Amino acid sequence: MPAPLIQAPLEGFMRSRCPKQTGDLRVISAWSSDSLHMTPRARGLLKRLVEGWLLSIRSELRTQPTDAERALAVAAELCGEKLSRFVTSAPSAQNAVDIFSGEWSSKLPDELNVHSGPFLLFDDPRLHWALGAIGGVRGKEVLELGPLEAGHTYMLEAAGVKHVTAIEANVRAFLKCLIVKELTKLQAADFLCGNFVEFLEQNNRTYDVALACGVLYHMTEPLRFLELLGKTADALVIFTHYYDEELIRRNQRVAGFFQGAAQARAGGFSCTVYRQTYPGEARSCVAFSGGTQPFSYWMQKADIIAALEHFGFRRIETSHDEPEHQNGPGFSLIACRS
Ligand SMILES: C[S@@+](CC[C@H](N)C(=O)[O-])C[C@H]1O[C@@H](n2cnc3c(N)ncnc32)[C@H](O)[C@@H]1O
Repeated sequence: MPAPLIQAPLEGFMRSRCPKQTGDLRVISAWSSDSLHMTPRARGLLKRLVEGWLLSIRSELRTQPTDAERALAVAAELCGEKLSRFVTSAPSAQNAVDIFSGEWSSKLPDELNVHSGPFLLFDDPRLHWALGAIGGVRGKEVLELGPLEAGHTYMLEAAGVKHVTAIEANVRAFLKCLIVKELTKLQAADFLCGNFVEFLEQNNRTYDVALACGVLYHMTEPLRFLELLGKTADALVIFTHYYDEELIRRNQRVAGFFQGAAQARAGGFSCTVYRQTYPGEARSCVAFSGGTQPFSYWMQKADIIAALEHFGFRRIETSHDEPEHQNGPGFSLIACRS
C-alpha cells in the first residue's frame, strides 16, 4: 500500500475534485499492495488510470509541488516501477542501461555496444567547437550544470580535464549519470544531485570553465543565472534557445507555450524576458529534461550577449545558430574573461 503520508493527500484531493473516482482509488490502493505480481494487462490499465489522474492532479496542484511530487511517488509505486526489481540474466552493460529503458536521450558510446537513445551528446559537434574556441580544457577545473546523461562529461574527460563537478537536479538523470560513470569508467567527474542555482548562490570558489548547455532557457531567472555564472568561471560554454518574436510566432510547435513578458534586473543590467510554460505532457514524461519549475523565462540573443559583456566577459564568440530549430531558435556561445 502507498505510505499513509502519501495516500492521504491524494485521496483528499480525489474526493474533492473527482468524487466519482474514489471507488477506483480504493481498487488501485488494494491492487498496489500486489502490483509487482499483476498481469501485464492489469498493470497497463492501472498505469493509464494513474496517468490520467496525474494530468489533472498536476494542473490542479501546480502551486503545490510537494503534493504533486507525492502524487508522482504514489503513481510510480502503483505502477510497480520501483527500482527494487531483479535482473535474472548474466551481468551486462545493457542490463544497467535498461534500468531506464526507453528513457535515454543520448546515444551511448559505441564501445559499450548497447541500445540507448538517438542524440549524439557523447560526440557533440557544438562542444567540439566550443572546446576549440576556449583553448581546450586540459588540466582545467570545470563546473558542468545539468549533465543529463553525462555525455558532455564524457567528452570533457576525453579532452583531458583535470576535474568536473557536474550538478543534476533530475533524480532519474542523476542516476543515469552514475550508470554512465560506471560503464565508461569516468575518473575525473563528481556528480552532485541537487539544484545548481542554489549551488551557485552559495558557492564562493571559481572554476576555469563553466558549462551551461541546454539550461539557460529552463531558468525562471535567466539574467540572475548569467550574473551568477559570471562570478563563478573565467570561461563559459552556453548552448541555449532564445526568444525571437518573429521566429517563435512562426514555429507552431512552441508558439502556444509563450505568454507574457517581464522586466528582469540583475547586477546592474536589465532586459525583457519572455515566459514559457511547459506543456503538461512534457513534464509528466519520465524522460523530461527541462527545469525544476512549471515555467521558465527566455532571453533574446542580443540580451544574452550584452549581459555577458556587462558581467565582464571580453571575448564572446557564437556558433551553431539554428533559427528554425523545432524547439525554438537556438545558438551556442563561448565567453572568456580575457
Ligand atoms: C536540456 S538538458 C541539457 C543536457 C546537456 N547539458 C546538454 O546540453 O545536452 C537540461 C538538464 O539540466 C537539468 N536541470 C535543469 N534545471 C536544473 C537545475 N536548476 N539544477 C540542476 N539541474 C537542472 C535537467 O534535469 C536536465 O538534465
